[in-house]
Amino acid sequence: MESGIGNSREGDCVDERPEKWTVGFAKHAVEFGARFGSGQPPRIFFSPGRVNLMGAHLDYNGGPVMPTAIDRGTFIALRPRKDRRLRFASTLEPVGLETDLSVLRTQRSGRWIDYPLGVVLEVLGLARQRGWMQDIRGLEVLYGGNLPVGAGLSSSASICVGTAFALAAAWELPLDRMDIVHAALRAEREFVGVRCGIMDPYAIGLAREDRLLWLDCKDATNEYLPFGDGSLSIAVADTHVRRELAHVAFNERVEQCRLAFEGLRPRQPDATCLRDIRLDTLRTARGEIDSIAAKRAEHVIREVERTFAARQALTSGDSRGFGRQMFLAHESLRDLFEVSVAELDRIVESAALCEGVLGARLTGAGFGGCAVILLETATTSSVRDRVVFDFERSFGRKPSIEIFGSDAGPREIASPLAIRGFDAVL
Ligand code: GLA
Repeated sequence: MESGIGNSREGDCVDERPEKWTVGFAKHAVEFGARFGSGQPPRIFFSPGRVNLMGAHLDYNGGPVMPTAIDRGTFIALRPRKDRRLRFASTLEPVGLETDLSVLRTQRSGRWIDYPLGVVLEVLGLARQRGWMQDIRGLEVLYGGNLPVGAGLSSSASICVGTAFALAAAWELPLDRMDIVHAALRAEREFVGVRCGIMDPYAIGLAREDRLLWLDCKDATNEYLPFGDGSLSIAVADTHVRRELAHVAFNERVEQCRLAFEGLRPRQPDATCLRDIRLDTLRTARGEIDSIAAKRAEHVIREVERTFAARQALTSGDSRGFGRQMFLAHESLRDLFEVSVAELDRIVESAALCEGVLGARLTGAGFGGCAVILLETATTSSVRDRVVFDFERSFGRKPSIEIFGSDAGPREIASPLAIRGFDAVL
C-alpha cells in the first residue's frame, strides 16, 4: 500500500507544532478515559470548521466560492479495539452509538450520529472495493470540540471530514485527500440526506493556513488565494439563533434553484447549471417562470458576478472593494434568496457603520447562525463593542463575537497527554 494522508501515525504527518487548543485536546483525552476506561491513551484528531466569504448558495448551482477553514473545530479521540465493536460518543450530544461492524445500521436516525455513521459506511465501502479490509477492526471514538453546532460554520462537514481522516489513520487505509473529501460529501448527501454542494468538505479537506480556497463548483477546479497579512481579521458574530428545520429550508432552496434552472434552460440551451444562465436570459423569461424561482435565480446570477469581482479586488489588493461585495451579497441573501433573519441583518447593519469594517454578510446557509465581518485588525474591540451594543438594544441579549484564525485542515495532534506538566493546567 502507498502511504496516504490517513496513514499518519508513524509518518511525519502528526503535527508536532504547538497547538492552540492543547489544553482542550488534553481535557478531551481525559474525558475519553472517563467514558471508555483507562488503557492505551487515545489518538487525537482535529478537523476545522469553515467560513465562506463569498459565493453564497452557489456551490450546488455550479458557481465559485471563497471559503477558508477556521481554527475552531471538532476534536476526535480514538482508540482501536481488538474486536469488531464500534462505540461512538460525544461530549456535546447525549446519545451515542454502540454496534458491531458486521451489523451496521444503514438507515438514518435523524440524530448527530448519522454523520459519523454515514462516513463509516462510506469508508468501509472504499476499503471493500479496494481490497483493504484486513486492518478493519472495532474502535472507541469520542467527539467534542469548540465549534458551535448549527451556526453556519459547517460543524457537519467538520465531523464528516474529520471522521474519514481519523478512520483512514486508525485502519491504516491509504486514502488520499480527495477520497476523504468525497467520503464526507457522500455521507452527508446520501446517508444524512442534505442536498448540500461540494463547498464544505472541500473547504475543510483542502484547507491551508492563511489562504482562501477559490473553488469553482462547476468542475471542482481550485486554487489558493493569499489572505491576511495581519492587518485584516475575520470576526464571526453568532446570533445564537438556531432554526430547528434549517436543513428542510436549505433543501427547499436547492429545489427552487433546480426549478429555476429547468425553467430557464430552454431559453439558453448551452447552460449546464444555473451558474451559466445570463441575466438577460432571466430578464426575458421573468414573467414565464415561477416568481420565487426567478428571485432565487437572480441571486445566483448576480452572486456569481460579485464573487468574481471580489476575487479581482482581493488579488489587486483592494480590500475595500472585496468588502463591498460582501455587503451586496448580504442584501441579496436577505431580499432575493430570503435566508437571513432580523438578528443577522442587525449585525450587518451595525458593522457597516463601524470604522474599520470592510464588509459583512451572513455565512453558511443562513436561517440564523453567524455573520462574518471583515475588518481592520486594529479596530476589533471598537467594532465588537458597537455590534454587541446595537444587538442588545434590539434583542435584549448579546451575540458572541470572536476573531477566528485560519487553519491548516484535518490532522492528527501529537499526544496532548505526553505534554509535560499538562496535569497542572487541567
Ligand atoms: C450550507 C451548505 C453548503 C452551501 C452553504 C450556502 O452550508 O452545506 O454546501 O450550500 O450552505 O452557501
